[in-house]
Amino acid sequence: MTDLRTRDATRDDLAAVLRIRNRSFGPLGIGGTDWWDRVAAETLGGRMVVVTDGDGAVVGAGRIRPFEQAWGGRHLSMGGVAGVYVEPSARGRGVATTLTRALVARMGELGDVVSCLFPTAPALYRRSGYEVGGVQSRTTFPSHLVRALGSAADGRRVRPATPEDADTLTVLTRTAQARHGQSGPMVPRAEVFRRMLEEQTLITYVAGHDAGSGEPTGFVVYDLSGEAATVEHLVAADAATAAALWGVVGSGSSAVPTVHTYLDPRDPVMLALAGLPEASVTQVPWMARVIDLAPAFAGRGFATHTSAAVELDVADPDAPANAGRWRLAVDGGSGTATRVAEAAPDASGGAMGSGGADASVSCVDARGLAALWCGWSASRLRLAGLLDGGSPDTDAALDAIFAATPYITEYF
Ligand SMILES: CC(C)(COP(=O)(O)OP(=O)(O)OC[C@H]1O[C@@H](n2cnc3c(N)ncnc32)[C@H](O)[C@@H]1OP(=O)(O)O)[C@@H](O)C(=O)NCCC(=O)NCCS
Repeated sequence: MTDLRTRDATRDDLAAVLRIRNRSFGPLGIGGTDWWDRVAAETLGGRMVVVTDGDGAVVGAGRIRPFEQAWGGRHLSMGGVAGVYVEPSARGRGVATTLTRALVARMGELGDVVSCLFPTAPALYRRSGYEVGGVQSRTTFPSHLVRALGSAADGRRVRPATPEDADTLTVLTRTAQARHGQSGPMVPRAEVFRRMLEEQTLITYVAGHDAGSGEPTGFVVYDLSGEAATVEHLVAADAATAAALWGVVGSGSSAVPTVHTYLDPRDPVMLALAGLPEASVTQVPWMARVIDLAPAFAGRGFATHTSAAVELDVADPDAPANAGRWRLAVDGGSGTATRVAEAAPDASGGAMGSGGADASVSCVDARGLAALWCGWSASRLRLAGLLDGGSPDTDAALDAIFAATPYITEYF
C-alpha cells in the first residue's frame, strides 16, 4: 500500500484503534473498558503509534510498553511491543511492516535499548530484526510436594501483603534478579503491585517480617482457580523464606492438588523439591531485539570472571544505532561496545555475508544480533544462517560474552 504514514496516536484516534482491535480479537470482555483506559494512560504521548492510509484513515496501531528488564542481573529499559493490529481490509499490504519499523525507531528515541514481544506472526517481526529469545514456561508440581517444603521454614512466618508493601515487593524482585544474574524477567513497577494489592485480584503474602530488621525477605503472588494454585511471583532472599512461602502455597493441597508456576525455569525450588515437576510444561515463545547496542551492552551485567573481547560487524538498516563494526569487551562483570567503523563493510549488499566483508570478523544482521544477545551459541547461529565470518576463537568469545538462558515470566 502506498502513502502509508506513521504518527503518534492521539486521544482522538482511540475509538478507531479500539475498533481495529475488536475486529482483530473480538469485543472487550468484562473489565475491558478499565483495561483500555490503562492502555491509553500508559502509551498515549509517544508510546502508541498509528499507521494512516492516503486518506488519513487509521489502518493500524501498535504500542510500546515501558518495562524494565534484567539482563545479566542488571536492569535495562525494555520496550514491550503489544497491541499490534491492522484493519482487516488493509492487511497484506505492508501496514504492519511499516508499523513495526516505526516502533523500532521510536524505541530508539525513547531510550528503550532492547525490545521484546510475544508474537503471533513471527515472520513479521523477523523482518524487523527480532528473533526468538526464550520462552515463558509454566511448570506444574503436585501440591503435596510443595506443601512439604514448608517444613524447612525454620519458624519463618508469613502474613498477607498490604498496599504499603508495594515498594518492598519491587525492591525484593530487583535484588533477587541481581543476585541470580538473571536475564529476561521484568520488574513490575510498584504501582502495578499496589493496584494488585488494592484490588485484591491475587493472593499475596510476605515472609520474613518477623526476623532481623522486620523488613520482609520475600513474597509470593498466586491465584486459585479450579483445582490449581498458580504462582506468578515467588521471591525469597534466603532458604527459610522460600520454604515458608512455598509452604503456604502448598498448604491447600487437600483441596487444590496442583501448583502451576510461571517462574525462572531454574528456580531453586527445582533443587529443593523432593520430587520432579509433572511432565507437561507449557511454553510460550517470545522474541527480542536490540534497539541500541552501545547503551544496552554497557548496561547489561556479565559474569564477573569472564574476560573477553571480540569484533562484530552488525548490519541493521532499521536501527542505525546498531550498525557498524563494534569491539565488544567484557571484564570484571561490565561490558563496553565501541564502534570502530561506521558501517559494516557489507551493509549495503544485504543482510550480511557477501562480497566485501572481512571474513575474519564475525558478522550478523539485526536478527543475528538479537539471537546472540539472548544467548544462542555461535554454532547454533551458524546453522540458522544468522552468523558469518569469524573463527572458532571469535565464536568462543561471543559465547562467553553473551552466555545466558533468558526467560520471561509475564505475558504482555
Ligand atoms: C498480523 C497482522 C498485524 C499483519 O498485518 P499486515 O499489515 O497484513 O502485515 P504485512 O502486510 O506488513 O505483512 C508482513 C508479514 O507478516 C506476516 N503475516 C502477515 N499476516 C500473517 C498471518 N495472518 N499469519 C502469519 N503471518 C502473517 C507475513 O510474513 C507477512 O509477509 P508476506 O506478506 O511477505 O508473507 C494482521 O494480520 C493483524 O492485525 N492480525 C490480527 C492481530 C494480530 O495477530 N496481531 C499481531 C499481534 S503480535
